[in-house]
Amino acid sequence: MGASLTCRPVAVITGITGGFGSALAAAYARAGFRIYGLYRSAGQLASALTAEFPGQVQTHCVDVGSSLEMTVAAERLCQFWGRADVLINNAGITRDALLVRQREEDWDEVMRVNLGGAFHATRAFVPLMKDGGHIVNVSSYSGLKGKEGQAAYSASKAALLGFTRTAAIELGPSGVCVNAVLPGYLPVGMGPRAIHAAEAAAHASMLGSLSDPAEAAEFVCNLTRMRGVTGQVFCLDSRSI
Ligand SMILES: NC(=O)c1ccc[n+]([C@@H]2O[C@H](COP(=O)([O-])OP(=O)(O)OC[C@H]3O[C@@H](n4cnc5c(N)ncnc54)[C@H](OP(=O)(O)O)[C@@H]3O)[C@@H](O)[C@H]2O)c1
Repeated sequence: MGASLTCRPVAVITGITGGFGSALAAAYARAGFRIYGLYRSAGQLASALTAEFPGQVQTHCVDVGSSLEMTVAAERLCQFWGRADVLINNAGITRDALLVRQREEDWDEVMRVNLGGAFHATRAFVPLMKDGGHIVNVSSYSGLKGKEGQAAYSASKAALLGFTRTAAIELGPSGVCVNAVLPGYLPVGMGPRAIHAAEAAAHASMLGSLSDPAEAAEFVCNLTRMRGVTGQVFCLDSRSI
């Protein structure tokens, strides 16, 4: 790694192999950050990312829902680059079903990953934010409005907003900002997997289209350069309902 890379800020991005994670990786790489990307199973995509940005991107396979694994991931970053400046809690899953048919284990898994993941990552990586930092929790419109068949997902994403505000209060004195971003319905990742919901989202948009992952990622990247904004929820959606 060249000398110029060693003094660049470090962004930790969970769910780097996903649709929005890839857009975040591209935005942070363009902005010159070193990136520590966490993923669960898509090893080939993770390897492709490290090959695309040699020396600038490191990846690590981890279950964000495991406190122990997140501690190990943070220790590895500490040995490697010694710091974290930004944390994007982006890893997320859905296990959609009508409330009456929702399996208890699916409810638990959604909470464990979507909410527990942000909790474990925040506790693991904040100690590496030695000069302050910025955390963004990726929430969802579904967490604000609710959505048929998404009780677990909506509840986990709504809970992230309370987590964001509380973390902002507690970490503000250490110079760590914590905000939430709702990226809008994206044509990547979990978005197009629910094809009818994607069509309905485009229809409900005042612009008649889905949101742009690159634009949302750029927003997150610019937000995390700010040191004077915390405890806020940024909705990048254009739906009228
Ligand atoms: N796409 C949308 O329209 C949309 C809209 C609003 C909000 N969001 C939010 O944006 C975030 C990313 O969504 P996406 O569409 O990019 O989803 P995606 O393509 O399904 O990607 C999910 C990412 O999370 C990782 N992940 C899942 N479970 C994990 C675990 N237990 N530990 C570590 N990593 C785990 C996956 O890793 P592997 O692939 O390696 O398994 C993948 O990188 C989510 O929080 C989602 O709720 C998305």
